[in-house]
Amino acid sequence: MGLVSGLTAILKSVLTLLLLNFHQGTQNVLESLVPKQFLQRQSRECLYNRTLALYAVEYAAAVYVDNPPSLLAWNCSRCQGLTAGFKIEELVVDVPHCLQAYVGVAEDLKAIVISFRGTQETSYQNWAEDLYFRQLDLNYPGIEDAMVHSGFYSAYHNTTLREGVVKGVQAILATRDDLGTIVTGHSMGGAMASLCALDLAANFGLKDLKVITFGQPRIGNSIFAAAYYALVPNTVRMTHSHDIVPHLPPYYTLLGEKTYHHFATEVWIFKIQVGRLQYEFEEICDSSGEDPDCSRSVTGNSITDHLQYLGVYLKRVDE
Ligand SMILES: *[C@@H]1O[C@H](CO)[C@@H](O)[C@H](O)[C@H]1NC(C)=O
Ligand SMILES: *[C@@H]1O[C@H](CO)[C@@H](O)[C@H](O)[C@H]1NC(C)=O
Ligand SMILES: *[C@@H]1O[C@H](CO)[C@@H](O)[C@H](O)[C@H]1NC(C)=O
Repeated sequence: MGLVSGLTAILKSVLTLLLLNFHQGTQNVLESLVPKQFLQRQSRECLYNRTLALYAVEYAAAVYVDNPPSLLAWNCSRCQGLTAGFKIEELVVDVPHCLQAYVGVAEDLKAIVISFRGTQETSYQNWAEDLYFRQLDLNYPGIEDAMVHSGFYSAYHNTTLREGVVKGVQAILATRDDLGTIVTGHSMGGAMASLCALDLAANFGLKDLKVITFGQPRIGNSIFAAAYYALVPNTVRMTHSHDIVPHLPPYYTLLGEKTYHHFATEVWIFKIQVGRLQYEFEEICDSSGEDPDCSRSVTGNSITDHLQYLGVYLKRVDE
């Protein structure tokens, strides 16, 4: 037993070292040393922290509160539970574009938390239908051949959101150097969260960046997805059962760079019905971004599944 666990420990530390170098182009060496299946499982399981996802979903729900004073005082109905004690630094409300985000410090997570609100369309059905036809019509600046939809890009880059969020992050970092950063958002807010994280990593050199989004749409092509994953590897993109939005805009397997393509890593929450009981499971998906055994294995036809993640309701509340 002692020998076996000793060997396991050695193997683990070798793996850890190898994994640290994973993004520096040692992939080929790795593949010859370790069975691929094992490697993928290892790195996947390190990535997904369910406890952290439970925190993130509450932060993603709180940004839907349509009451700036109660967000600033952090005493809204959703400012309790796991988010209690959050210190907001900057609340960004873009009235003309109907957008909202906040930045603050969660001492219990030792992190700056940035959260983006999803769409305020009155009908999710209409919004989903509109998403179906969004074109890849903008070259993502600085990354050759990376295409995104200009609407998603503009919502973060071409409104007051970027300026406000960056200002908040910089104000916190001016006095603190002990914090990581967690960026979250639901639906359209998830798209903005990932564009923000990419911006913070690429243009502001932010380290220790974690992203957890819920039911976000696709935002760019496969080249964009690969570049995103290289710059923000610590990303969990949660999808829920038959949630329609992660299926949009559509992914056409045969279109290569001309089709939308999700980035990794998806974590798919799926349900299994046993008699009258329903169980929820989570699958940590592969590093392709378009794992055929995850959300893509079912039809995306549910708005109900879109509005609820990990037992939390994600929708606008007036209070
Ligand atoms: C998961 O996240 C929680 C909350 O930040 C943290 O306390 C815990 O140590 C993390 N678990 C792992 C295995 O990293
Ligand atoms: C939240 O705090 C603000 C400012 O202290 C106060 O005016 C407001 O009444 C509080 N709201 C609730 C619901 O406690
Ligand atoms: C950003 O906004 C300006 C002014 O509204 C507009 O001219 C420009 O096309 C927008 N850029 C993108 C990428 O949508």
